[in-house]
Amino acid sequence: MTSSCSTPSNTPAWHTLPHAPAPGTLLGRRDALEDGSVLLHEVYAPADSAQQNPFRVLLLRSGTEVKAYANRCAHFGVPLAARQEHMQFVPHVSLTCNVHYARFRWSDGLCDRGDCEGDSLVAIPLDVDAEGTIRIAATA
Ligand code: FES
Repeated sequence: MTSSCSTPSNTPAWHTLPHAPAPGTLLGRRDALEDGSVLLHEVYAPADSAQQNPFRVLLLRSGTEVKAYANRCAHFGVPLAARQEHMQFVPHVSLTCNVHYARFRWSDGLCDRGDCEGDSLVAIPLDVDAEGTIRIAATA
């Protein structure tokens, strides 16, 4: 199953972000995500053996559905949270940046309250196979 993601015109496409991994990159397994959770995940390019340039991803699970957004606030382009324990969210409903507290909808990443209202998180398309393996989709 491939998740779709529409990106508003003022939001960069995920694959144009610095250190964006290749389509097909493994992101994890659905059964490792608690229902209603947001997991901060970092992906490194194979050539980045020192792991200095992470591509930061937020993985969200709601039932059997998994979504991914770049961990990049639409306001200043910094992570919504730098550490897992700092991630603020309402399960299945919203995510909140812990810098200036902009709130983003879980369903589509749109900012509905805060300094970047109307802008969106950068959605990353996923493929989740029958075994629950999560990969970045082959299509952008
Ligand atoms: S950097 Fe996220 S709300 Fe300002």
